[in-house]
Amino acid sequence: MDLKQRINKDKLPGHIALIMDGNGRWAKQRGEQRIFGHQHGVESIRDTVRTAGEIGVPYLTFFAFSTENWCRPVEEVETLMDLLVKAIQTETPELNENGVRIRAIGDLDSLPEKCRIQLEDAIALTSKNTRLTVNVALSYSARWEIVNATRKIAQKVANNELSPDEIDDTHFQQALETAGIPDPDLLIRTSGELRISNFMLWQLAYTELYFTPVLWPDFRGKHLIQAIIEYQRRERRFGKLKCQPPATINEVK
Ligand code: FPP
Repeated sequence: MDLKQRINKDKLPGHIALIMDGNGRWAKQRGEQRIFGHQHGVESIRDTVRTAGEIGVPYLTFFAFSTENWCRPVEEVETLMDLLVKAIQTETPELNENGVRIRAIGDLDSLPEKCRIQLEDAIALTSKNTRLTVNVALSYSARWEIVNATRKIAQKVANNELSPDEIDDTHFQQALETAGIPDPDLLIRTSGELRISNFMLWQLAYTELYFTPVLWPDFRGKHLIQAIIEYQRRERRFGKLKCQPPATINEVK
């Protein structure tokens, strides 16, 4: 039986987040430089997006570059940024034709200007698409995001637009980079590492975690499908007794 047919279409995850790990090890296994792994990782992103679109998953978030990744050797950082520009240039027209909306979260101002402009153009071009949102986390870390959100809320309080008593989950959610995006239902991390690594700490509160030993450059649509099938076997209780999603997931527009 085709693996895809084993998916229950009525229980699809609304948002899948992915920590793409293992590019360096994949390259090393082949006697190549780390960047060789990143280059092949782009094909894994392409196959994952294509498969998610076919299945009907509405949101994907890829952790492409963390705040901490700036500390990698300059050459690796520059090549990653070049890869990003090239991927946006090559992929955006096809993504747009297929109804994919591109979004980004993170400290985009810290990206090289060329990257930022390409990204902003791709976001603007695809902003009306509704079939699938591909969200890319770039120069992103969850602690940075939470501190930033706190600053925005504190500013509102300082401007007398909000009182401290009024601050609730919804205010906080709206101050995060992911405002308007539902929390992930499923997080996939490749390469066998069992960590969250400063990724979407607020949003992952009730997310199902899935770890696979597959290195990111080997990750394909079939692995995504396997993760979804495993997700559908889990019972989600959101800290309650009955399987009932928390209000915040439904409230997000
Ligand atoms: C982790 O592997 C992966 C990254 C730091 C970058 C992920 C980037 C891509 C898949 C390429 C596309 C890039 C952009 C910016 C769109 P690692 O290098 O930590 O691998 P290791 O743990 O085996 O060393």
